[in-house]
Amino acid sequence: MSYFNDLFVLDTFTEQTKLFELISVDDVLKIPVDSFLSAYEISLYDLVVASKKDEWLAGRKAAKKCIVRILNSHGHKTEQKDIEIRNDDKGVPFFTLTESTDSLLIAMVNGYTSSISHCEGFAVASVMDSSEGGLGVDIEKIQKFKTGTVEAFMNKQEYDEYVKLEPLEQNKWATVVWSLKEAYLKAIKQGLRVHPKGISFSKNTPKNTFSHIVHDNQKAVPASVYCSIYKEEFVITCIKI
Ligand SMILES: CC(C)(COP(=O)(O)OP(=O)(O)OC[C@H]1O[C@@H](n2cnc3c(N)ncnc32)[C@H](O)[C@@H]1OP(=O)(O)O)[C@@H](O)C(=O)NCCC(=O)NCCS
Repeated sequence: MSYFNDLFVLDTFTEQTKLFELISVDDVLKIPVDSFLSAYEISLYDLVVASKKDEWLAGRKAAKKCIVRILNSHGHKTEQKDIEIRNDDKGVPFFTLTESTDSLLIAMVNGYTSSISHCEGFAVASVMDSSEGGLGVDIEKIQKFKTGTVEAFMNKQEYDEYVKLEPLEQNKWATVVWSLKEAYLKAIKQGLRVHPKGISFSKNTPKNTFSHIVHDNQKAVPASVYCSIYKEEFVITCIKI
């Protein structure tokens, strides 16, 4: 689709993909929760509203798979239930260790940042060393947005592209733009406390591996952006800034 090439860079995100997980709720529900959740997480799980429970669980599983893979690659035989995922007062997920007294391992685990997203039967998560910057992921079902909503979150350039498209392509485009913005808002740890309209994306030439994100006319932030369509039904985005 030409508009992707005009505005965005769809990198294969090679470096990041090993730190990225997409998981279906159906698969997670086959696994006993006490095999990967800590006792504290099980108590939280009981409190999650029924409609969100399964996806919340899948988000935990996806993020734990990423962090355990990283720790194992550093020679630590940590299990998923030894890692606890909590959310800070802004909702941002972070890792702690439940039982360990190994201060080096604790520091290592605390030093990773994660981003989680869930939507209609799937969850995605990514993990990276927080010293490398901010990370945001998003999964969205391709959907028809109300015109007022589209006008509210798209900037002029995005909206001009949108109105030129056929209805089905409009849905895809609007979902991509929304997903990119939501992933960026997670990467800056703000979520919708910051209005998405002020965010825009641009390509970095000549190499198609980085784009820049401009936020409210401030200085452009270099970003690594991965965005793809999954099963023709979902948009998945991962942004590293
Ligand atoms: C971040 C936000 C955009 C995510 O939207 P969502 O519809 O819940 O969608 P997703 O499934 O993609 O993401 C949920 C995950 O985002 C993460 N998250 C929540 N707040 C976050 C923040 N400020 N920064 C980064 N990540 C955040 C959490 O890990 C959450 O999953 P979890 O609860 O299972 O841990 C939204 O929750 C938000 O804006 N939160 C902060 C402000 C707020 O609460 N506003 C109320 C509405 S205006």
